[in-house]
Amino acid sequence: MCGIVGYVGSRAASEVLMDGLRRLEYRGYDSSGIAVLNAGDIELRRAVGKISNLETVLKKNAAEGFVGLGHTRWATHGVPSEQNAHPHMDCTKKIVVVHNGIIENYMVLRSDLTKKGHSFASQTDTEVIPHIIEEEWKKAKNKTEKEFFNAVVRSLKRLEGAYALSILCSDCPDMVVAARRDCPLVVGIGEKENFIASDIPALLPYTRKTIFLDQGEIAVLKKNSVECFTEDGKSVKKTVTTVTWDPLQAEKSGYKHFMLKEIMEQPNAIEDTIRGRVYSKGGEFEKELGLSASTLKSLKRITLVACGTSYHAALIGRFWLESLAKVSCQVEIASEFRYRTSFLDKNDLAIFISQSGETADTLAALRLAKKSGAKTLAICNVLGSTITNAADSTFYTHCGPEIGVASTKAFTGQLTALLLLAVHLAGVRGAVPKKELENIQKDLVKIPSWVRESLESSSRIEAIAKNLYKKFHFLYLGRNLNYPLALEGALKLKEISYIHAEGYPAGEMKHGPIALIDENMPIVAIATQSLVYEKVLSNIQEAKARGGFVIAIASKGDAKITQVANETIYVPSVPETYAPLINAIPLQFLAYHIAVLRGCDVDQPRNLAKSVTVE
Ligand code: AGP
Repeated sequence: MCGIVGYVGSRAASEVLMDGLRRLEYRGYDSSGIAVLNAGDIELRRAVGKISNLETVLKKNAAEGFVGLGHTRWATHGVPSEQNAHPHMDCTKKIVVVHNGIIENYMVLRSDLTKKGHSFASQTDTEVIPHIIEEEWKKAKNKTEKEFFNAVVRSLKRLEGAYALSILCSDCPDMVVAARRDCPLVVGIGEKENFIASDIPALLPYTRKTIFLDQGEIAVLKKNSVECFTEDGKSVKKTVTTVTWDPLQAEKSGYKHFMLKEIMEQPNAIEDTIRGRVYSKGGEFEKELGLSASTLKSLKRITLVACGTSYHAALIGRFWLESLAKVSCQVEIASEFRYRTSFLDKNDLAIFISQSGETADTLAALRLAKKSGAKTLAICNVLGSTITNAADSTFYTHCGPEIGVASTKAFTGQLTALLLLAVHLAGVRGAVPKKELENIQKDLVKIPSWVRESLESSSRIEAIAKNLYKKFHFLYLGRNLNYPLALEGALKLKEISYIHAEGYPAGEMKHGPIALIDENMPIVAIATQSLVYEKVLSNIQEAKARGGFVIAIASKGDAKITQVANETIYVPSVPETYAPLINAIPLQFLAYHIAVLRGCDVDQPRNLAKSVTVE
């Protein structure tokens, strides 16, 4: 949570910073601020709420200069207010800091600094940082850039917790210092200008040449140079990576919301994730997984770990790994798993699924699994993110940037990656007959066109949403592969429309939830053709008999369903295995249209942020 940007060059820094903040707003939108160096002084502008409020402030009171920092906040310590908005300064008003993360020992540091005479203007944990640097900077005999860098290195040693930082000092006006521990930071390398940001989209309009800072690293950015160091201040040589994301992917491109654009992008995103991976030869797939064919053959157990939507993808992945690859599989919520006793050992493969690659709990779970000796694999969408660095290897989803807080294309991208993995494992392990495997491979390449067809349901769903958007509670039901989708449908609805929704395995209804049903409780039943179709049909009838209003998601050509459901949304009829990828679409549309009708902020729902970098 929180997005940071930094710039040094010849452009108007405030414009670059504001542009970057707009692209990082998905990371938090409680407040924002920038600091720009202007003729030896630091100009600070801050505002509560969205970036547009900061734009208003800047229109009235511009901040001029060519070096600066910016921040968009998701509040952890201290309410969203101007005082608590970043950047934060020291007592001399010479040092300014933006921060993403949590400084765990800030209370001790703050009381120590207060005793030394420092005064604090905010309730944030961050504010201790400029004051500590101030203390260390005081000790420097020569006020050189090198000495300021050393003061930062010494200061960082006093911080416990997680941070991505950008720091400016008006005594050293030509440089920005950036440092990271457990929160992401990417350097953007330009022509006579350099950038630092929490995430790639902020850099895309200016450069695709990037350096991903690793754990504990520090970068010093000047107009004509970027140098990287270890946390002890030793120089390190870093690789420059050219990112392939198209700048236009991070724009709305005429769509009303990023979420809608990202829903519509799914056929292409899935195609990109599949490309070159269905018929891969010569051990390429194994290379990507960082696991040999013999290891894959002998695997006894796989553990999938994730949070939120990625956890729902994991639940579906389990079905595929068990049914296709015939390998035992368990699924864990990262925030729970990390505090349980782990029984993983060197014979285990643990897979960590994360769109952002920054989710704090997933990262902590990964570190725990590594400690236990398990082999670790990340399924991730963001190149160079923390989880991809921490895992033994990464199997990337190639969905492009996902900006909407509600995960859509990243979810189907994760499903695609898990399905590819399960199919590959099935082949290597000889778990399905050759002919069947060939048929599955043929089906895999059809998925994007099935999803494209499923997207045609949008206007029908919008019409249904018009009758439902004022309801207070929803129930989502599914069985087998469609049960995790029921969870996902409910999550989508609650996070963007603030309607209470629950996902349930349809077979569990009689064990409690059926008591909730009356005419005010719409029931979304995912009832596509499958092994358990008839059973779901009976569950729908039971709900109907209690006055429930049923919206069924059904396979094209299913006439029977219309006799029991009040509304039917048809999706292409596909083999059961692939249904989750196709059925996810109407659930995303339903949540989207209901949220729009309710006037909700679809892309930036209240209280949420895209990357959950705190526990
Ligand atoms: C889904 O719409 C969410 N915004 C959220 O549940 C998300 O999937 C979760 O926070 C995990 O994020 P990650 O995939 O980046 O780790």
